[in-house]
Amino acid sequence: MSDVSTTKSMDDIMSLCKRRGFIYQASEIYGGVNGFWDYGPLGAQLKKNLRDAWWQDIVMNPCQGKPGPKGDPVSIVPVDTCIIQNPKVWEASGHVGGFNDPMVDCRETKSRYRADHLFCMGEKGDKSGQIYAFVENNDASFDAALKKLGKYKKKELTKDDIDICPLTDLSVDELAITVGPDAKEVGTLTEPRAFNLMFKTYLGATATEDDIAYLRPETAQGIFINFKNVVDTTRVSVPFGIAQTGKAFRNEVTPRNFTFRSREFEQMEIEFFCHAEEANDWYAFWRDWRMQWWQEIGLAGENLILREHDKDELAHYAKEGAGTSDIEYRFPFTAPGYGELEGIAHRSNYDLNAHQNHPDSNTKLEYLDTTRGELAKNGQPKGERYLPDVIEPSAGLDRGVLAILCEAYTPDPERPSKVFMKFHPRVAPIKAAVFPLVNKDGMPEKAAELHQLLVKKFGHLGKIETDPKQSIGKRYARMDEAGCPFCFTIDGDTLTDGTVTVRDRDTAEQKRIPFDDVVQFVATGLGLT
Ligand code: GAP
Repeated sequence: MSDVSTTKSMDDIMSLCKRRGFIYQASEIYGGVNGFWDYGPLGAQLKKNLRDAWWQDIVMNPCQGKPGPKGDPVSIVPVDTCIIQNPKVWEASGHVGGFNDPMVDCRETKSRYRADHLFCMGEKGDKSGQIYAFVENNDASFDAALKKLGKYKKKELTKDDIDICPLTDLSVDELAITVGPDAKEVGTLTEPRAFNLMFKTYLGATATEDDIAYLRPETAQGIFINFKNVVDTTRVSVPFGIAQTGKAFRNEVTPRNFTFRSREFEQMEIEFFCHAEEANDWYAFWRDWRMQWWQEIGLAGENLILREHDKDELAHYAKEGAGTSDIEYRFPFTAPGYGELEGIAHRSNYDLNAHQNHPDSNTKLEYLDTTRGELAKNGQPKGERYLPDVIEPSAGLDRGVLAILCEAYTPDPERPSKVFMKFHPRVAPIKAAVFPLVNKDGMPEKAAELHQLLVKKFGHLGKIETDPKQSIGKRYARMDEAGCPFCFTIDGDTLTDGTVTVRDRDTAEQKRIPFDDVVQFVATGLGLT
């Protein structure tokens, strides 16, 4: 277990991500584009492995066989819906009218802030002096504001000398005497304004107001609008879930913290439909199982927490009195605080109701549950029609990858690479590497044979690396930075006694095992046996 807050620097992690081809700035050769990131060869495979693990444990083998609250198997089916839908979908869901963040601009520095991320300080009891704004959760911003206030007051101030309040609590007059987090002048912050996060585009060539469409801000609505299709065309019955992964787009006011808050990102969402009477049990089930899943994929330790929402945090769709929780990770840039990886929300029947009642949808979305209702004369239930409640475990794939990168990053001054990536073998982008010690004397041929064997067996799970060049130390160092769990080296002895050297990434220990045991060794290491 590692405490990312004390031992790891985000700059170091980002630099390794660039150097080793995990993540690049999008459009880098043109100076980049704020809030967009591309994944390189290792990052693309890492991301695919995390998505595949989710798909396997949600769609193919729901909850790894763990039964639901009543002891029945959990039932989930997948869909893959469009990024662009009829714009009325987003009217009904509330996104066109209400998906807003409050935004504040600084006229001096041209910086833009989320108003709800800004806090202010002034000297205790002093109503007349300047007020200094700082970015919450950013120690440097707080310290700078405290220093500026001290300079203005001509005395050294500590935390005990100041009052703090959210910027959104300030009056217009108070805003006029506020100094922005990065500003020198007073009164350069604008009043908070609502900013809609939906990305607009136009359908067809004419590009008039009538042709406006939106890139989806969440994959969830594609599921809700297909609820009836899935019920009518498959043999699912409530309780069941519909799952999907895919891109979502939000025109974030302040994209920041590497991929954490991006404008284009990928989600992994489940909408789990159940009767309202069973919703609380399903909520607790999903909350606990999703936490366990993130732990099993490599985020076990104090950096991962499950946090129930306070009442005033509940989203507009959350049911009164029902639970909503976040699974949060302590990233180096949030430490000592945490950032959200996945939300588990009790959405009631808010969305199905909204789509059913939109004047243009014209579709009843009620479900006929033949297991419920009064008993008929024949002793069978008459059936009950209802809009199911929904429990929604909604995870961010890019945030998951980022948490896994931060957790895996392990400084080790003893190694030539000075760092290794301790990925859980299930998500490691390179599963194994095969190296001939030298590029001659029959070793490359033997290495090629083992490489082919491993590609055939495990190539569908990730890359099997082989590389005949450079010193063996350099090749191990590269694999340490890539997080490859096992390196196999073919040397002179392999040709005489049929053994190979295997090097363990986490301990850097080496031992010899028979060539013929390598496949079984990797299978065990990857948890496949
Ligand atoms: N359907 C519910 C929904 O979309 P959300 O909390 O807004 O809920 C779910 O998003 C997850 O998507 C978050 O927990 C986070 O992991 C991810 N996410 C949201 N906004 C993001 C952004 N701007 N960049 C990267 N990931 C984001």
